[in-house]
Amino acid sequence: MKALILAGGAGTRLRPITYTRAKQLVPVANTPILFYGIEAMVAAGITDIGVIIGDTGDEVREAVGDGSRFGATITYIPQEAPLGLAHCVLIARDFLGDEDFVMYLGDNLLEQDLAAFVEAFEEARAGDDPPVAQILLKQVPDPHRFGIAALDEHGNVVSLVEKPADPPSDLALVGVYLFDKTIHEAVRAIRPSARGELEITDAIQWLIDTGHRVRTELLTGWWIDTGKLTPLLEANRLLLEKLETRVEGSVDDRSTLDGRVVVEAGAEIVNSRVRGPVAIAAGTRIVDSFIGPFTAIGAHCEILNSEIEHSVVMERSIVQDIPRLEDSLIGRDAVVRRSQQRPRALRLMVGDHCQIDVE
Ligand code: G1P
Repeated sequence: MKALILAGGAGTRLRPITYTRAKQLVPVANTPILFYGIEAMVAAGITDIGVIIGDTGDEVREAVGDGSRFGATITYIPQEAPLGLAHCVLIARDFLGDEDFVMYLGDNLLEQDLAAFVEAFEEARAGDDPPVAQILLKQVPDPHRFGIAALDEHGNVVSLVEKPADPPSDLALVGVYLFDKTIHEAVRAIRPSARGELEITDAIQWLIDTGHRVRTELLTGWWIDTGKLTPLLEANRLLLEKLETRVEGSVDDRSTLDGRVVVEAGAEIVNSRVRGPVAIAAGTRIVDSFIGPFTAIGAHCEILNSEIEHSVVMERSIVQDIPRLEDSLIGRDAVVRRSQQRPRALRLMVGDHCQIDVE
């Protein structure tokens, strides 16, 4: 079994961050989103991984490398334009050959391991009526944002529709799909959708319409498509929930750490209070500040005389004299500082290299 991880796409819903960074490399709990997907694949025993890259390909290559740090072998497959998820399968034909594969959207995060889903597919494939594909479904409160499945009374999928105005159910297609080689025929048979993309949803519908069996599995753990600010902060929160305390940096005697807190080597906490779950990466200084629950501060940042909660701050940024920063995403090398007493609370999405002076 191989894997195809999709790490192209423009990330328009996370601008300005994605003007300068691949959306799959935005960190949650101080680790790029994409790394969780690669790790999940390796944990499921799949190490031959193709990664589709787009405009941000160089950055993805630099971050992921040849895959050896994950125990995987990575083959990069450039996509010249974001022409759809099924287009990714089309251009990965040579890499995939005739093998079964898992397709994984690089901005999706799942609580559950993939191993059980992979095993279930392999078992079903060895049975009497082998499926050619397996999709994962999850009940969602906002079905118009996803691909949605309609099932018959036996739980078999009868139709799939991409981002329906009038959803036939609340069962969304999770960004993890298993396929056999029949999908290559499907992606060649379909035509671009109204948004000009070759939709994987249409390719799976083609499989159903041509009489092939598509298995479904219902996901029980959480699943997040991190492409926007609110779900990204939620993913950060859910991953920080699983944090185990580890203090390798220095904490002075005027500071307190409550709950589960990670302070990486070379980080410094001075006259501050950190209430976990919080992750503070290497080389970061927290001085005269309060860091509240569900915050991840990247490497080599400075948080000075400020209060931050439920936020992600990326590497080398400075937050200074900000009385309250919450629900925020701060890019790399950014500076957020205030010179007067107002306003009291800020809610920001700050791109890389920005400087915000609140006056
Ligand atoms: C894509 C798929 C959609 C699926 C979603 C899962 O949507 O087209 O069917 O439900 O991923 O994350 P996109 O995020 O590209 O809008």
